[in-house]
Amino acid sequence: MNSQEIKKKAHKISWLEFAAMEEREKIIFLNNSHTNNPFHVLFSQQFNRASLNLLCQIAERARDINKNKKEGVKFLRGLLSGTHALNLFSQPSTRTFLSFETAQETLGMSIRDIRDPSTSSEAKGETLEDSVRTFSSYVDLMVMRHPDERAVEKGAWVLNKSDRRIPIINAGSGKDQHPTQALTDIYTLYKSFNGQIDDRTIVMCGDLKRGRTVRSLSYLMKNYHDMKLIFVSPPHLKIKEDIKDFLQRHNIPYWEADNLKETVSLADAIYMTRIQDEWDEGDNQDKKVPRPVDPKYKFKKEYLKLMRKDAVLMHPLPKRDEIDEEVGYARDKRVIFWRQERNGMWIRVALIAVIFRKEEVFFKYTTWPENWRKGGKNGRT
Ligand code: CP
Repeated sequence: MNSQEIKKKAHKISWLEFAAMEEREKIIFLNNSHTNNPFHVLFSQQFNRASLNLLCQIAERARDINKNKKEGVKFLRGLLSGTHALNLFSQPSTRTFLSFETAQETLGMSIRDIRDPSTSSEAKGETLEDSVRTFSSYVDLMVMRHPDERAVEKGAWVLNKSDRRIPIINAGSGKDQHPTQALTDIYTLYKSFNGQIDDRTIVMCGDLKRGRTVRSLSYLMKNYHDMKLIFVSPPHLKIKEDIKDFLQRHNIPYWEADNLKETVSLADAIYMTRIQDEWDEGDNQDKKVPRPVDPKYKFKKEYLKLMRKDAVLMHPLPKRDEIDEEVGYARDKRVIFWRQERNGMWIRVALIAVIFRKEEVFFKYTTWPENWRKGGKNGRT
């Protein structure tokens, strides 16, 4: 189906019909019909190996171009100049929000944001569907974080039916998915392993049941060969059956373990996550005093000695006590979570550029300053 046919057909599909579709059917309504790259970005399964490679390459090109502080910065800003983005965040965020804003600004978009739904007409009873349709009257891109797992999907469904079919990006949907964090993580692995992500063992530790970053990253493993996953979590926060089923269907071996220390030396990448106690029910409602993490699921400073020389320690952040405080400032080049969050900005630049079909211009760009490779006088990006 081309985009005209998608619009025509999407107009007749009810929300219940859309929500009940199988993933591969939904992707037809979400990806660009010409390139098969995502147009709406709802879940990680929309990405294939080619689209992930393309995004990583564009992120690299964008960083290099940006080193040319005169021509390069101007070139990037010209790409989406005159377009507008709305960032609608109904849950707290620091790095996803800021990295999207910075990415949009880098590409020359002007930015609107709503971070407190009580200031929008949702507070007067407007439905999510009508709010999304209204936002699309003013902007060319929506980025949305929402506690309801289906809210962004519903937004995509509404936009597909409307005569202003602008793209919508999931910036975190309840306990379900955080696809742009998964892109950040893949780009970080790509950079850490010189573009060779295949044949890696990844240890994921923490709240694997409610951690949407772990779920989204697990789905992306289908795009690489010979990946192995080790899940380490408290018994009540184990990875859910749907992810295990997915891994089995794609022949991705996984193991479950109960003690991080035993797995550290096996890993190419250790992916730590916070206990997501904002979702707790019952006796832990006072989120101001988080419970200390069980030491079995904590990365202690001495574990740096157990890590392989070329392994990396990742975290989507924010972190709490699941990593010893000193690890973050240990000046060990394997501790990469600060670089990971910086990578998140550049991969979002790449994603937005691809959504707006600007991919080719990154490979045609030729105006480099003499000393761009060294960062010149402009420093690191
Ligand atoms: N990784 C991540 O989603 O961080 P924020 O909640 O700060 O956006």
